[in-house]
Amino acid sequence: MRPLLFLLVLLALACSISGCGSHRDPGRADEAHAHPPDHAHHHPGSGHPGHAEGAPGNPHGGHHADFSDVPRFAKIFDDPERRTWQHPAEVVALLEPSPGMTIVDLGAGTGYFESLLAAAVAPGGRVLALDVEPAMVEYMNERFATAGLESVEARVVRGDDPDLPPGSVDRILIVDTWHHLPDRERYAKRLRTALRPGGSILVVDFTPESPHGPPASMRLSEKRVADELLRAGFEVDVLEESLPWQYVIRAR
Ligand SMILES: C[S@@+](CC[C@H](N)C(=O)[O-])C[C@H]1O[C@@H](n2cnc3c(N)ncnc32)[C@H](O)[C@@H]1O
Repeated sequence: MRPLLFLLVLLALACSISGCGSHRDPGRADEAHAHPPDHAHHHPGSGHPGHAEGAPGNPHGGHHADFSDVPRFAKIFDDPERRTWQHPAEVVALLEPSPGMTIVDLGAGTGYFESLLAAAVAPGGRVLALDVEPAMVEYMNERFATAGLESVEARVVRGDDPDLPPGSVDRILIVDTWHHLPDRERYAKRLRTALRPGGSILVVDFTPESPHGPPASMRLSEKRVADELLRAGFEVDVLEESLPWQYVIRAR
């Protein structure tokens, strides 16, 4: 065999053993593994893993998420560091509560706002902490009993209905939950019916720039939320506040 031919045969043999031409770049991740399996990895402190739009029971565009792992979400929602950007006392002040009022916290989660709300409506007031997730409601009722918050009650509600009697509440607080609601214009009309004369809703949600909150694609701009509330028949104000990562909208 001539030397050149011999060299070519040797090369072909080496390739067939090592797989020339099908080599993977060791520095490049497999496409399927290039994305974190869970949105929470992208958004520490978000508490928004496992979102799915148009999930069963939520056909009108609200983002369904599984909040049943209460210990996991309690660490996130009740993280003492949250106070530095959530400014809970300011949020409650913007709600303009007064003694004797009935306040609803819709999508109350672990009950982060409830002790402040209870203090704001005392004496004689009532706080209803509503959530679609039964495990959250069980957790809240134990928490309120332990803390002696007798004026606060947690209740399970259906995803598409707060189940509030007409003219029964003075204020409705909705923090980081608006984007979860299905068919929001219709939902907002239900909330409007539930308000007493002079009643109002406060929607607090994440700006597109926030390092906290749901994945960017699931966030709603303040304009969109305001438009939804306007279409439901409310007068709407985007409020001045000092929250670094959220907007606050009042609807009357
Ligand atoms: C991101 S957490 C916010 C919890 C709380 N508002 C806070 O600021 O700590 C959203 C909560 O809304 C609840 N939720 C989602 N969809 C809902 C719906 N359609 N009706 C009532 N609650 C809902 C979830 O179970 C969850 O507890």
